[in-house]
Amino acid sequence: MPPTENPAKKPPSAWRRLAQLAKANAGVPLRDLFDMDGERFRRFSLERDGLLLDFSKQRVDRKIMAALFDLAREADVETWRRKMFSGAQINDSERRAALHVALRNRAAKAVRVGGEDVMPAIRKVLAKMRSFTGAVRSGVWRGATGKSISTVVAVGIGGSHLGPAMACEALTPWRKDGPAVRFVSSVDGTDLARATEGLDPATTLFVVVSKTFTTQETMANAKAARAWLTGALGKAATARHFVAVSTNEKAVAAFGIDVANMFPFWDWVGGRFSLWSAVGLPVALACGMAAFEKMLAGGHAMDEHFRTAPLEENLPVTMALLDAWNVDCLGAEILAVLPYDRHLDKFPAFLQQLMMESNGKGVGRDGRRVKHATGPAVFGATGTDAQHSFFQLLHQGTQSIACDFVAVAEAQNPLDGHHDMLVANCLAQSAALMRGRTKEEARDEMKAQGATDSEIRRLLPLKVFPGNRPSTTILLKRLDPFTLGQLIALYEHRVFVAGVIWGVNSFDQWGVELGKKIADSILPAVADGVTAGHDGSTAGLAERYRSWSGKST
Ligand code: F6P
Repeated sequence: MPPTENPAKKPPSAWRRLAQLAKANAGVPLRDLFDMDGERFRRFSLERDGLLLDFSKQRVDRKIMAALFDLAREADVETWRRKMFSGAQINDSERRAALHVALRNRAAKAVRVGGEDVMPAIRKVLAKMRSFTGAVRSGVWRGATGKSISTVVAVGIGGSHLGPAMACEALTPWRKDGPAVRFVSSVDGTDLARATEGLDPATTLFVVVSKTFTTQETMANAKAARAWLTGALGKAATARHFVAVSTNEKAVAAFGIDVANMFPFWDWVGGRFSLWSAVGLPVALACGMAAFEKMLAGGHAMDEHFRTAPLEENLPVTMALLDAWNVDCLGAEILAVLPYDRHLDKFPAFLQQLMMESNGKGVGRDGRRVKHATGPAVFGATGTDAQHSFFQLLHQGTQSIACDFVAVAEAQNPLDGHHDMLVANCLAQSAALMRGRTKEEARDEMKAQGATDSEIRRLLPLKVFPGNRPSTTILLKRLDPFTLGQLIALYEHRVFVAGVIWGVNSFDQWGVELGKKIADSILPAVADGVTAGHDGSTAGLAERYRSWSGKST
């Protein structure tokens, strides 16, 4: 909960004021707020370049929004925003800038890191991507046997996978003229087996994406892919069938990839923010460089909005403040992301890493435990399928879960009536979550349907919906490379601002280290039965694994 300060000396801090407002407003249901204010939608929505953000179904009023903007000012969001764009080391634990905005900087201006303008290097890599994607897509790039490339297999995990995979899916209509693209991420052998199934090594290109080029899963998959390729075409084939995206030139060369076919990026690009760098090469290969650069332009447009718009008109800032309000003041510590567009199937998974790896922290920038909840936990799936799966809990479960709905106005596959139905379902869900259904409404409805008194008595409690569940709806005019870029950058900046408000560094990820380290030490137990030194559960499971998999008797 909010930190406490001496009220005698200072005006109430924004956190304190928000706690008071949460208490005072707890009894005012959202449906009443709508009934009382015919202007609510206009008042609590923002629009920018074909992207409408409707937060009128959040449990806020004008006083609450004003206190939230005070909170942003108390947390110095404007200073942090300036620091980000100026290349300051805002990733302080790793002493790095977080400068993904430079990657999509479409303006002619310099962006400096440690005094050096990084734009020439960025433009050089973009030019290299342009010429390479052009060569592959036109068939000029030939494999070892002289055949052109028909399938790209991208090997990478986490930030080196989720962004490109999500964007390739989102931009499916732009993939018509490019090679097919498949992804391998997990070390589960099924991933590589599926990705290579039915492929001809002679027409397959592997793109190994890894910032560090040391990640266990990616290296294991890259080696297995190389064996698959060279087994069919011979050792020399690697040069024409493998390219790399990395910051680690030495490791790329040691793997056997010609560094002329390496696309570099830089330590100031965080993994989950790296789609805009050469990490997006699979997207550029599949959709073409023009589409990729339009996505950069969309990201840049959102950067300019975020950088220049006053806090009160700022879309990412507003979304971040609503996160703080929901998580810390209303106890809604879970966020459901619900895109109503099949092409955004992978968007929830992408956001899980972006939001949870960034702000899932219990220690602040000052090295102390944070005084309030950070988060939120994120899950989601596309509508309307999700309605027939977990929406029951959203409507009548005991937790309050905040929702982000995403809908698109223009249909990409306009079957008679389908798109209207899809969008109606999206709007209906957020309306139902907001309004709920009272006892009286449920009773009247049952009576109108001819239910008997005893039936009404039996079923009435089950037909009541509490409502008052907060949601935001993002409506895109269309889903294209530009609006996708906007949408992703919107969430990136929301995450950053929320991190500033919670006092955490959104750009490190120390929490994923321990599991990786322990996995290394457990491998000998699993592979060779060396269980000494491990806890009883680990040793017991490793032994049973070895016996059931036939490794030991
Ligand atoms: O899961 C931790 C992590 O470090 C992510 O932040 C990153 O995106 C992923 O691993 C992959 O790392 P790399 O690109 O170095 O292979």
